[in-house]
Amino acid sequence: MSLEERLVSDTIFVTRRIFDETLNYLAEHVVVEGNDTDRVLSSDELQAGAADAAGILSMVTDRIDSQLMDSCPNLKMVANFAVGFNNVDLDAASERGILVTNTPGVLTETTADFAWALLMAAARRIVEGDRLVRDGKFTAWGPRMLLGHDVHRKTLGLIGMGRIGQAVARRARGFDMDVIFYDPYPVPAEVVDKLGARSTPLEELYRTADFISVHVPLLPDTHHLLDDDAFAQIKPNAVVVNTSRGPVVDEQALVRALEAGTIAAAGIDVFEHEPQVEPGLLALDNVVLAPHIASGSHDTRLRMSMLASENLVCGLRGDRPPNLVNTEAWEQRKQ
Ligand code: GLV
Repeated sequence: MSLEERLVSDTIFVTRRIFDETLNYLAEHVVVEGNDTDRVLSSDELQAGAADAAGILSMVTDRIDSQLMDSCPNLKMVANFAVGFNNVDLDAASERGILVTNTPGVLTETTADFAWALLMAAARRIVEGDRLVRDGKFTAWGPRMLLGHDVHRKTLGLIGMGRIGQAVARRARGFDMDVIFYDPYPVPAEVVDKLGARSTPLEELYRTADFISVHVPLLPDTHHLLDDDAFAQIKPNAVVVNTSRGPVVDEQALVRALEAGTIAAAGIDVFEHEPQVEPGLLALDNVVLAPHIASGSHDTRLRMSMLASENLVCGLRGDRPPNLVNTEAWEQRKQ
């Protein structure tokens, strides 16, 4: 059997309804099966659906664990439709020679735009203003109505200075902000210089930043990075934005900080136990909440789905996919 024939006979399973353009591309290369609805499949449904699949095109809402991998004996690849991949058990995949890919780069600017949207909305109380107008309570302009926090010429503290952190920093130049950042990994000096940013210890960032935006992956080290202790150090006028992963912020500690005025406000796109939201957050006005949509523009979601699919086709064809995450699996990949 030629490589092309072998590839064409591979079945892949797409776990949620995606874009026709992407499905058409996939159908040129593989047999496409999947969930054609917007509902998140249960683990039993996912196991049953993907049982014969050589590849899975997965979402952040799917748990791709060892049990699922063991119930899919033909599985060679998981292409995650996201830059984050904490929903995939990477060690289990590597042990089984299953390649895992993600979609970096294509969502950087869109996610940075959204971090800024949350920052501005929380600082300038846009959602509260919208509610007030809709509730018919805008009876007159008021000198002290819904006063917010200036953004321009303030200090922006970025936790994580990877692609997205850098893109957020670039936008801060237009607001004449001082940009400081904390990143445990080295950031090239020329990148830092070009951004006019300065690296600080985390404690200094907490003490000095007026706006804090989080751009780290979810790892054992970053779980609950922002906890009671962190909030106690952050300035009371500060606005905290999280577009990374929910568990990086201890949600209950965040509620306590917002309630007590330890921090001024927050903009939150990701939650600890999605899609559940800590009820304490829902009760607060000084937090803007979004349903994990930071990368959700028409263009970017299409680019993400195309990139995930290109990775999948490339890997199933036997070539090294461009966005391989578990590089250690390449040597023992299933042929
Ligand atoms: C979305 O959350 C992503 O990781 O791409």
